[in-house]
Amino acid sequence: MQVILDKNESELLELFSEEAIQNRIRELAKEINNTFPKNEELVVIAVLAGSILFASDLIKRLHMPIQFEFVRLSSYGHDQKSSGNVKPVDLTLPSLEGKNVLIVEDIVDTGHTANFMIDYIKLQHKPENIKFATLLDKVCARQKHVDINYRGFEVDDKFVVGYGLDYLGYYRNLPYIGYFPQ
Ligand code: IMP
Repeated sequence: MQVILDKNESELLELFSEEAIQNRIRELAKEINNTFPKNEELVVIAVLAGSILFASDLIKRLHMPIQFEFVRLSSYGHDQKSSGNVKPVDLTLPSLEGKNVLIVEDIVDTGHTANFMIDYIKLQHKPENIKFATLLDKVCARQKHVDINYRGFEVDDKFVVGYGLDYLGYYRNLPYIGYFPQ
């Protein structure tokens, strides 16, 4: 069956190439390796689905023992604007008490999702140490302050797709990040 989308990949303008993304991930991994002890377990929590490619590439470059976990939240629905209303879809996690935790997001937009996740993990799980990484930071759209420890790139107020980020569920598989010109 042919998929009919109102936007076509050929119209996409590249914002960050595959090479730029991978180079930046190497730098972020170096920072994380310098922060957390090499012999202590780190629980990496990927916020699905958008962060899956970023988190997968990032953990390949980390040197400590890694436990890779996932949570699923939803805030966008079918719109291109964040609803600000974070819906937990699946928050199943093992005990994180006393552990080093790194939350990994694809993009921080309004900041509602990141805030929800950080508060939830702190209150419900009482980890020893919690850090937050995001590949993209849409600073200009921020409504709630977020303490970002590791940031890939800053982006303007554009709706971006690729490398895990979707439009109506599509384009997550692209190895680069782009946007549709208005
Ligand atoms: P926030 O709660 O407004 O910060 O939104 C965070 C979530 O909205 C991200 O994890 C993404 O799933 C989604 N999102 C925000 N901006 C974009 C975008 O430009 N493209 C695709 N998804 C986005």
